[in-house]
Amino acid sequence: MCGIVGYVGPKPAASLLVEGLKRLEYRGYDSAGLAITSDKGIKIGKSVGRVSVLENLVKTTGGFDGFCGVAHTRWATHGEPSEPNAHPHSGLTKSGHTIALVHNGIIENYIPLRKYLADRGHVFESETDTEVLAKLVAEVYNGDLEKAVQTALREVRGGYAIAVICDNEPHTIVAARKGSPLIVGIADSAYVVASDASAIIAHTTQVITLDDYQVVRLCAGAEDKKGDGGPWAVDFRTTTIDNVSVAREVTELEFDLEQIELGGYEHFMLKEIMEQPEAIRNCLRGRIDHREGRVVLGGLSAITRDLIRAHRFIITAQGTAYHAGLIGEYLLEDLAKVPARCEYASEFRYRNPIIEEGTVAIAVSQSGETADTLAALTEAKERGAIALGVVNSVGSTISRETDAGVYLHVGPEIGVASTKAFVGQVAVLTLISLYLGKRRFLSDEVVKAYLRQLETLPDLVSRVLEQSDHIRKCVEDCIDRDNWLFLGRGYNYPVAIEGALKLKEISYIHAEGMPAAEMKHGPIALIDKGMPVVFVATRGSQYDKVISNIEEVRARGGRTLVVATEGDEDIHKYADAVFTVPDIAEPLQPMLTVIPLQILAYHAAVLRGHDVDKPRNLAKSVTVE
Ligand code: AGP
Ligand code: GLU
Repeated sequence: MCGIVGYVGPKPAASLLVEGLKRLEYRGYDSAGLAITSDKGIKIGKSVGRVSVLENLVKTTGGFDGFCGVAHTRWATHGEPSEPNAHPHSGLTKSGHTIALVHNGIIENYIPLRKYLADRGHVFESETDTEVLAKLVAEVYNGDLEKAVQTALREVRGGYAIAVICDNEPHTIVAARKGSPLIVGIADSAYVVASDASAIIAHTTQVITLDDYQVVRLCAGAEDKKGDGGPWAVDFRTTTIDNVSVAREVTELEFDLEQIELGGYEHFMLKEIMEQPEAIRNCLRGRIDHREGRVVLGGLSAITRDLIRAHRFIITAQGTAYHAGLIGEYLLEDLAKVPARCEYASEFRYRNPIIEEGTVAIAVSQSGETADTLAALTEAKERGAIALGVVNSVGSTISRETDAGVYLHVGPEIGVASTKAFVGQVAVLTLISLYLGKRRFLSDEVVKAYLRQLETLPDLVSRVLEQSDHIRKCVEDCIDRDNWLFLGRGYNYPVAIEGALKLKEISYIHAEGMPAAEMKHGPIALIDKGMPVVFVATRGSQYDKVISNIEEVRARGGRTLVVATEGDEDIHKYADAVFTVPDIAEPLQPMLTVIPLQILAYHAAVLRGHDVDKPRNLAKSVTVE
């Protein structure tokens, strides 16, 4: 999720900030920018695309002189990737000074704040939530940047890591965090603040971290006023946003750079599997109103009436996104009681589809650039359908083609095999189904019950993730087998297909997923002694039927690996290996039952010695037909 860097000290800041941004590129981003302050004022530069474009801008335009600055790589959440939307964002104080601010996270109450500030004469130049915070700091600035930041943050709801400078205090950076990461490096007569240690380790291994709602003021000023790099006085102060001083211990960084980029994980895929609790929190943030018992999806408000009146939903996608779309088909029919069908985009676009009046087409895509999905959506639109997007990459081509949409907000997904994006797609399709269900046939009590369970999902996912070692041991017993089956019923049938795809695409083991009942119509001929068959057999409406399917496999010598509900002791009679998930309503199960299958595929690939993050023949986004 994007990156922040700040530097104040005896060296020219611009090149150090660019180098810091390059260290953060692995986090994924779509644009970049920096601001340098000096006694000549604040100079801001921004660009879309790679950090190298920004670096070139700084070199060619010049004027970025100064010893104090902040920089940012943006991963857009509010407002598409563009130069005006790139950070730093600025604000003009009543005293005519300039504030420049960079931000990771989402300001949830930015709309009312934007109106409050516009009413006070602030002129907005971007579509972002961040610009509101920059102008709020400017609005409350009375000559003390630390106090202005504290005051502004007391008015804000949402997640943030910020770094702020002001041309009236050219040797000071004020930084703060809540929910997004931030770390401060204590270097020789200088400070570096950044989203993670990879942008700090080149300067120092002495760091302090901040807890949520904490602020740090970093000053590094020249003793002699000639500003010729004379003796430097440095000091830092840590407080809460209520200006209560807090002590923060200086600790020693122990990571090497490679580890830091991966957050200590061996692969990005493992990192993205393990960060799914946080990804779900970010996806759900601001979208559940428990008091009213309703889903809040601002991106759909313009077409809510059309959605409620829709006669049919067509979901279109490829690969893992298609599997999420299949779950969406079940969710829409089950919770919103509206006909729905998920189609392979590559098939839909060429089969001269019939689109009646009142059809809504939903394109599901992590990258928002998949050629077939884009073409299918365009085809549906041209035939009169309303176009919705369930996309991770803000401002991507598919998102720009839609009439409305809901972003995943799970952060950039770097591993080629999609994991957190799948869970994000299912979470958003669940929210959309509940959003419509409440306006159609679902009672308030039922919606509230689902929303309460949704809110517990991140902690429940964490419990499943704890089984990683156990799952690896179970995979070791079957790692020599070249053919697997994945079987499930109902909501867990698409999970079974997704589990098969995960195994195929990173371990190169052949696997097939299908509805458990379908096995008897031919594939059961494949079962031989020791063949691994993975079942999703959680408590639910078809539990007994799945148990019968498991017994059919065992009767033919198959090896059964079963995803079951915590506390189900019976299942051990039918399983050679059991992976458990907490009990939850059936429509919400896929976001849990997929986790053991992701971990299983990951360990199989590692045990077979493959490149987990860059599997052979695969691209992260298939932008060709
Ligand atoms: C998923 O693990 C694969 N990498 C692939 O199937 C992917 O889901 C598919 O190409 C769709 O990509 P999208 O979500 O970016 O549209
Ligand atoms: N929400 C802010 C934006 O869309 C910050 C996104 C980020 O974390 O990069 O600009």
